[in-house]
Amino acid sequence: MSSDSLTIIQPDDWHLHLRDGEMMQLVAPMTAKQFGRAIVMPNLRPPITTADQALKYRESILKATFDSEFLPLMTLYLTDNTEVEEIDKAKASSFIKAVKYYPAGATTNSDSGVTRIDNVYPVLERMQDLAIPLLLHGEVTDEHVDVFDREAVFIDRILIPLRQKFPELKMVLEHITTQQGVDYVLSQDKNLGATITPQHLLLNRNAIFKGGINPHHYCLPILKREIHREALVKAATSGDPRFFLGTDSAPHTQINKESACGCAGIFSAHAAIEFYALAFERAGALHQLEAFASFHGADFYGFSRHSKTITIKKEPWTIPSEINIGKAKIIPFMAGEELSWKIS
Ligand code: DOR
Ligand code: ZN
Repeated sequence: MSSDSLTIIQPDDWHLHLRDGEMMQLVAPMTAKQFGRAIVMPNLRPPITTADQALKYRESILKATFDSEFLPLMTLYLTDNTEVEEIDKAKASSFIKAVKYYPAGATTNSDSGVTRIDNVYPVLERMQDLAIPLLLHGEVTDEHVDVFDREAVFIDRILIPLRQKFPELKMVLEHITTQQGVDYVLSQDKNLGATITPQHLLLNRNAIFKGGINPHHYCLPILKREIHREALVKAATSGDPRFFLGTDSAPHTQINKESACGCAGIFSAHAAIEFYALAFERAGALHQLEAFASFHGADFYGFSRHSKTITIKKEPWTIPSEINIGKAKIIPFMAGEELSWKIS
């Protein structure tokens, strides 16, 4: 590693929204250019709740990324009505790698999510037996809980009892955003990992309100105070194998973001590894980027690490201010800003 070039084993994205249709055609190749594999979220409309749907979705992603070696790792969307047999089918499929829990109403396309965690105990039991990881959107939806506290309250109310009931079930606390999230993961010595997004490493909640309301910095879980951002940076750059890369890149059109009721989600797939490089560089920890981006997630899920490498170079460039999608546009993360790193 010189100070202006960094070669690392090819990374994977352990939490990604690829959408479908025209949007997928646009965004999937961007991820495939950087990452070897990605855990693909199932919150489409309608959601991917069955192994058959996941198979079709996977085929469409493979088509959209045909000129790469990109491997989509599929997930099922857990609902109150998910059948235990569907878990057996998922296991037999060999390409479904996890099941995603959204509390009903927590975020984009989560209305079919779980209303009470005990509704899905039989399914979780089978996942534990078959070693299929549970991926958690870790927020409560209780209206009495402040939006900035939803992750911390989720840990106390849902996660701690859940881990006691299913100690052998592998879980990933997705897109952690708080000191409490970091501390809880650190308190668990097996079967729990956490993904961290680029926006939660680079921004605190002031970014949502800087100079006016900034819908392009709105995502869920929402950005938090600076002390939380600092805790996340410390965790990500620590070399601790429980923390790994998951962009949560979640594209929405400009119109759907800049609206009276704007969608949650930040699109970062256009320069994902560069954003992480920036965050790690700022922390003086570029030497830890490879472990976070390319080793820890693969090790947690039980995949082999890639043998291919990618190189990122110190080469300032300007992120486009918008990306066209048919007649619509996506406003990418850090639109119009200069970024110091570029993938070769
Ligand atoms: O900000 C978010 N956007 N958080 C989520 O949990 C879902 C995602 C999306 O699908 O847009
Ligand atoms: Zn997500």
